[in-house]
Amino acid sequence: MKKRVAVLGVGITKFGELWDKSFSDLFLEAGIKAIEDAGIEGKDIEALYIGNMSAGRFIDQEHIASLIVDHAGLTPIPAVRVENACASGGVALRQGVMAILSGMHKIVAVAGVEKMTDVVTEKTTEILATAADQEWEAFIGLTFPGLYALIARRHMYEFGTTREQLALVAVKNHKHATKNPLAQFRKEITVEDVLRSPLVADPLRLLDCSPISDGAACIILADEEIAKEYTDSPVYIIASAQASSSINLSDRRSLVIQEATLYAAKQAYKMARLEPKDIQVAEVHDAFTIGEILAIEALGFVQIGKGGKAVEEGETWIGGKIPINPSGGLKAKGHPVGATGVAQAVEIVLQLRGKAYNQVDADYGLTHNIGGSGSTSVIHIFEKG
Ligand code: COA
Repeated sequence: MKKRVAVLGVGITKFGELWDKSFSDLFLEAGIKAIEDAGIEGKDIEALYIGNMSAGRFIDQEHIASLIVDHAGLTPIPAVRVENACASGGVALRQGVMAILSGMHKIVAVAGVEKMTDVVTEKTTEILATAADQEWEAFIGLTFPGLYALIARRHMYEFGTTREQLALVAVKNHKHATKNPLAQFRKEITVEDVLRSPLVADPLRLLDCSPISDGAACIILADEEIAKEYTDSPVYIIASAQASSSINLSDRRSLVIQEATLYAAKQAYKMARLEPKDIQVAEVHDAFTIGEILAIEALGFVQIGKGGKAVEEGETWIGGKIPINPSGGLKAKGHPVGATGVAQAVEIVLQLRGKAYNQVDADYGLTHNIGGSGSTSVIHIFEKG
């Protein structure tokens, strides 16, 4: 990118089963924190982008951009809801970046919010499955754990990835989350705990899955010149890339290579003029343990097929070659689907400011957010100010 986009402020709520907070409460909490962190006033915000996957099904509320801009007292600015399944937050962030880069707006807010726990698990599973191909996948009973289970089996078959290596992804992310006070689960688990947890979709067990969560996150973006009025050293977004591949698994050339991520990563590294080895910390989409393995392979942090080995050898843990998901990731921090992409960005901004709960020494960080079983991939690269 010729120009950078400055991050002025970030805010995030606790993730988890937050039955005492409404959808609007969640957004407002994250939004107020971000505005305060940015040192701006609400009236400085010129537009609002909101990642949300399925408020219509989870809480019977559509037109949520209008709801939120109204409840936040930000009318009359334009507000847009962005929906790309679990990548809604990351794609909303990209809309905010493009709005600043185009020169259309000087300061914008990007939020992600989802309230998933007001319906029972069976209903949640059905709603999440609307992000799969209905005719080819959901109608025949495939759920998201089911789709990722097929991918995991194939990865084990092609590369010899072991059941224990998958479990180690969960063990690592639960360990990372113990330091994150806003995480849904702050309890360490062992490989045995994962292997003994209830089977969800063979070979994936309960502790291989991200949970069902409520939560919100918000980030304030600004034009690089305007940002100087507020801070001397903002974190910058130096690349924003998005790519797509077939929504249904059976149309993909490979089950085990995230092609949309490969493509988006190539563009993102080019925009940032960096290589995978330059990234020192990343938040990636570990909706299921196998998801993190696919992500670190497609992002070029490890060779294709070597993701399991990397976690086993400690490369992706705090203190390793490329720490992955220091926040606890979707697995342990929680996964309120539309909020996740923005929450990942909040974590990387805190890392590059040196203010993270689980600090990694880094000048460059990356976020990777997936929609569906990999058909949407959106990547951002951040630079320390
Ligand atoms: N990881 C760790 N612990 C979990 C968990 C998870 N993913 N899901 C639930 N738990 C815990 C609960 O806190 C509860 O613990 P407690 O007994 O100590 O209170 C226990 O396990 C049972 O929880 P419950 O709410 O009954 O689980 P559930 O059967 O309703 O849901 C899953 C479990 C795995 C089905 C559900 O978390 C799920 O569907 N996850 C995947 C979500 C998804 O697909 N997201 C989109 C990805 S693309």
